[in-house]
Amino acid sequence: MKIALLGKGKTGGRVLELLVQNNIPHTVFDSKNHPTLELLKAHDVVISFLSGDVFKEYMTLLLESKIPVVTGSTGMEWPSDFDKKLKVLGSKWIYATNFSLGMNLVHQMILIMKEADSIINNVQYSMNEVHHTKKLDAPSGTALSWKKWLDHDVNITSERIGDVIGIHELKLKTPVEEITIKHEALDRKIFAEGALFAANKITTLTPGLHLFQDVVQKELLKGR
Ligand SMILES: NC(=O)c1ccc[n+]([C@@H]2O[C@H](COP(=O)([O-])OP(=O)(O)OC[C@H]3O[C@@H](n4cnc5c(N)ncnc54)[C@H](OP(=O)(O)O)[C@@H]3O)[C@@H](O)[C@H]2O)c1
Repeated sequence: MKIALLGKGKTGGRVLELLVQNNIPHTVFDSKNHPTLELLKAHDVVISFLSGDVFKEYMTLLLESKIPVVTGSTGMEWPSDFDKKLKVLGSKWIYATNFSLGMNLVHQMILIMKEADSIINNVQYSMNEVHHTKKLDAPSGTALSWKKWLDHDVNITSERIGDVIGIHELKLKTPVEEITIKHEALDRKIFAEGALFAANKITTLTPGLHLFQDVVQKELLKGR
């Protein structure tokens, strides 16, 4: 498997470390070495940790290349017909706002938390996310995913402090009790490991746009 790595910044740089450590053939594309159709064609999978804006600029090129794409770029919306488009082209893409495999455990916890009001009265939810000062989007893509999983009204607050990798907290509060789910990323390696996990799985998928959490979920259920 030869990887085309788009972006070698704070997160892409950790993917690069894993590729080197595991002797996985790769090419790095960045702000000085832009990908072209010709250059991309020599690869089996693309992994992108570009910002959402830059990634959007390359989407047509990536579609044209027909190479499977694993993308962690946030701060962008997917066109509503994108999954259909990929299916027509026979292309396979995986995306995640958070490639941490541990985040999938949190997903299950939030699915339980969302049912709280079936047994508890006066439930109110709130969320807070903290990231480094260079993060472009707020609220974070992960916070928006948590909100989607929760499927309730929730006020999200964002803080930008130092070089914090990522802290997300969801609080359930009633006048008489409080429950908190907290995930803290301690090392960007968790995103790199998840992206490589996705790159290894992508050829086994059917064409279309796949959410990483669904890919992992399938893997978890295999063991049951
Ligand atoms: N899904 C997840 O699990 C996850 C986790 C963490 C972050 N993210 C997201 O990943 C994205 C990147 O975050 P980051 O903190 O790693 O960013 P970053 O440190 O700013 O790195 C951005 C990379 O993009 C490259 N770049 C900029 N313009 C380019 C262009 N026109 N063509 C090609 N490459 C270009 C830069 O090249 P140079 O090296 O030459 O400057 C750099 O390597 C963000 O959207 C972030 O939210 C996702």
